[in-house]
Amino acid sequence: MTTCVVALVVRKYGLANLEPYYQTADGALYNGDSIEIMRFMKSDSIDCIFADPPFNLGKDYGTKFVDKNENYVDWCGDWMAEGARILTEGGALFIYCMPSIAVRLVERLNRLLTFRHWIALTMKGSYPRGKKLYPAHYALLYYTKGKPKTFNSIRTPVQTCRHCGGEIKDYGGHRKALNPLGLNLTDFWDDTSPNRHAKYKVRPGVNELKITIPKRAVLLSTNPGDTVLDPFGGGGSTYEVCEQHSRKWIGIEKYDCSVIRTRLQRMQSQLQAEAV
Ligand SMILES: C[S@@+](CC[C@H](N)C(=O)[O-])C[C@H]1O[C@@H](n2cnc3c(N)ncnc32)[C@H](O)[C@@H]1O
Repeated sequence: MTTCVVALVVRKYGLANLEPYYQTADGALYNGDSIEIMRFMKSDSIDCIFADPPFNLGKDYGTKFVDKNENYVDWCGDWMAEGARILTEGGALFIYCMPSIAVRLVERLNRLLTFRHWIALTMKGSYPRGKKLYPAHYALLYYTKGKPKTFNSIRTPVQTCRHCGGEIKDYGGHRKALNPLGLNLTDFWDDTSPNRHAKYKVRPGVNELKITIPKRAVLLSTNPGDTVLDPFGGGGSTYEVCEQHSRKWIGIEKYDCSVIRTRLQRMQSQLQAEAV
């Protein structure tokens, strides 16, 4: 199984000279710096990039990684430019970040790629600093290289009250006319607050995303067999999505990769146990 990934990585992505930290039949995880590794990668070789970069908040994650970079926007400009280069025509780039970062990144992104959406995701549990409004959303920037080559429709369930189970909205009296598979996905996601409780996290200290976020991005913009890159692995959410939905993946994480390996190994064991 792993031999075929090595062959695939060598041929298609230009990573022949790098030894992956961990690999599966569908993907390979590299322990290194995202820009350095992306520079090795072939142009036009990746169908979707999902990036949840550090936010430059000066936080110490206890994994040798201190999230502080004097040249943060230039640094983002470098990996975004590499991302634009390695995307296939029509491929998609998603970047999850705070609005104050997003406004600075879009200046550069607009010169590299085609804007599709600024998706707003509810983010509760933060607090206002100084003369500011209470921050309640994060941005998921969605760009493509030219016209999108894949845009799968995604449906979300009709919202119900978690106490009584009843439906929250009446859809202006048109409830019966709604598609039984659910509602069309909008550019406002209010069901994506992060995994806050430590018991649901694979890696304490990392702002691991709720799996819904990379899952929607991947399912929206790729088909089975396509390749997804996540250059900031963290707890490995994107790689789990790819494994579960038959996408190939390339992962990069500069610091602790062991939690990602453990997560994927555990997931494989569960799948194998379910198959018996
Ligand atoms: C916000 S976390 C990503 C969380 C991930 N999306 C998840 O859901 O688990 C950002 C990650 O980027 C990693 N990182 C920071 N600088 C990096 C770099 N230059 N190259 C690769 N990874 C880096 C950090 O160690 C951290 O794990």
